[in-house]
Amino acid sequence: MRDVTGGRQGPAPIRVHNATKVFSPGTPNEKTALSKVDFALEDGEFAVVIGSNGAGKSTLLNALAGEVLLDSGGILIDGRDIGSQPVYRRAKLISRVFQDPMVGTAPDLSIEENLAVAVRRGRRKTFRLGLNRRNREYFRERISVLGLGLENRLSEKVRSLSGGQRQSLALIMAALLTPRLMLLDEHTSALDPRAAELVLKLTSEVVTGDKITTLMVTHNMQHALRFGTRLFMMHEGGIVLDAPAEEKAGLTVNDLVGRFLVTDDKMLLG
Ligand SMILES: Nc1ncnc2c1ncn2[C@@H]1O[C@H](COP(=O)(O)OP(=O)(O)O)[C@@H](O)[C@H]1O
Ligand SMILES: [Mg+2]
Repeated sequence: MRDVTGGRQGPAPIRVHNATKVFSPGTPNEKTALSKVDFALEDGEFAVVIGSNGAGKSTLLNALAGEVLLDSGGILIDGRDIGSQPVYRRAKLISRVFQDPMVGTAPDLSIEENLAVAVRRGRRKTFRLGLNRRNREYFRERISVLGLGLENRLSEKVRSLSGGQRQSLALIMAALLTPRLMLLDEHTSALDPRAAELVLKLTSEVVTGDKITTLMVTHNMQHALRFGTRLFMMHEGGIVLDAPAEEKAGLTVNDLVGRFLVTDDKMLLG
């Protein structure tokens, strides 16, 4: 028998509690980017986050990663509040892939050197690349999952890869140490449609295969419906829709557009 908690007892693996963030408070530019955001994720849950520009999606991911410190509320991993931990300490538990394929990988290092760097995620500098035969075997095995033939190009510089290949490599790097949480912020939106499709499929395979709890931001509603096991819609810093797998499966793009309109109406009506 398998329940949604996987038989877990105790605190949720990931819990965001009453998270609030106001940028430039007390100035004309004051902006509430997060307003009392509250949710928990179970192990292996693959939550997709949609919402209009400025809804607070990136701020939420940045708050989890430690790039943004909350004004109030907490972030708990396995019951421990990590809200005051710096980015490098959280990096042991949390990995990320960004929108820009140029950001997540080092172009002048080879594929295997990039993977070796990823193995050191969350550790302090001491930059010694662990490239021995055992590691190489392991990297070859991990990268072959992509089905792109990159396992035969381990010593090639990453700058020779396409955007889609780089994002695929970044994904494998982010998944390498089986993080407690993986954050994907529009990681396919800089790619052409075919490459985006490929990277999304690979994302789904990696997340499911390694049971990595994941938050993925996308502005593509069809992708949001096709991928993931849960759907959040954000608006004005809050979560206005939280659809679990069964509900999500019944949603259409029209439903989502309708939701966007309803939230806008609410806004207009004050
Ligand atoms: N570092 C920052 N300083 C000031 N305002 C910010 C900062 N980061 C985000 N914002 C503002 O907070 C709001 C939410 O932004 P963001 O989380 O990036 O939205 P999304 O990713 O959903 O498009 C926006 O109005 C944005 O301008
Ligand atoms: Mg964003």
